[in-house]
Amino acid sequence: MPSTLRSAAVASTLDRLLAAEERQDVAAAFAAAGVDVTADYPVELSPAELAERAKDIIMAVSPEAGQLLHLFARSIGARTVVEFGASFGISALYLASAVRDNGGGRVITTEFQADKARRARENFAAAGLDDIIELREGDALETLRTLPDTVDLLHLDGWPTLRLPVLDLVRPRLRPGAIVVVDDIDLDVGLNIREEFLAHVDDPANGFLSMRIPVHQGVQLCLNLG
Ligand SMILES: C[S@@+](CC[C@H](N)C(=O)[O-])C[C@H]1O[C@@H](n2cnc3c(N)ncnc32)[C@H](O)[C@@H]1O
Repeated sequence: MPSTLRSAAVASTLDRLLAAEERQDVAAAFAAAGVDVTADYPVELSPAELAERAKDIIMAVSPEAGQLLHLFARSIGARTVVEFGASFGISALYLASAVRDNGGGRVITTEFQADKARRARENFAAAGLDDIIELREGDALETLRTLPDTVDLLHLDGWPTLRLPVLDLVRPRLRPGAIVVVDDIDLDVGLNIREEFLAHVDDPANGFLSMRIPVHQGVQLCLNLG
């Protein structure tokens, strides 16, 4: 059976975006935007201001994390996927390819920053996956308030400070056996953000089984026990 991920439209779109990401110097780009990434999470900036300053920085999942997302989504037969943090849409392309091959469905992703949302939509169209991906522009804490009854997979890849609030928002929709995949869990942005998230998903009272996968800057996989 042919895989959508390997189709010419998806593969060429991903190759182009991943090559652009590879050419980027993220630390230098943040510095040029006036964001000190060596400090704790830049608390002086609101999430929206940080998104505005980072509007030209791709910040995508690594190709390995993208492939992992795709495999997870294929393995659990995901038809309804929610993503926090679209940026240029790279991870959404991996997820939507899986959803298409699972028989179709929807990837709902969300992006704060208007230029990024426009570029992501262009990339979804170029890959021929715009019929699967719905991009909701605005703050995820607002745009993800309305969701389908059940969600199979949640990808948390927006600002780390908002991981737990977004998880809380989507949690009632996660079906038993749904998975939550967190990108860049190793990124230490200070303020105990990483520790609080891990304490939450590792506490048996919260109903997840969770482990870190050593891919790129760490991928946390959390299984919803129901
Ligand atoms: C790491 S990037 C996402 C990368 C993307 N998943 C990919 O692999 O291509 C994080 C994105 O989340 C967006 N973001 C941050 N906070 C947000 C919020 N509250 N609502 C919507 N988007 C947000 C940022 O603007 C940024 O583009």
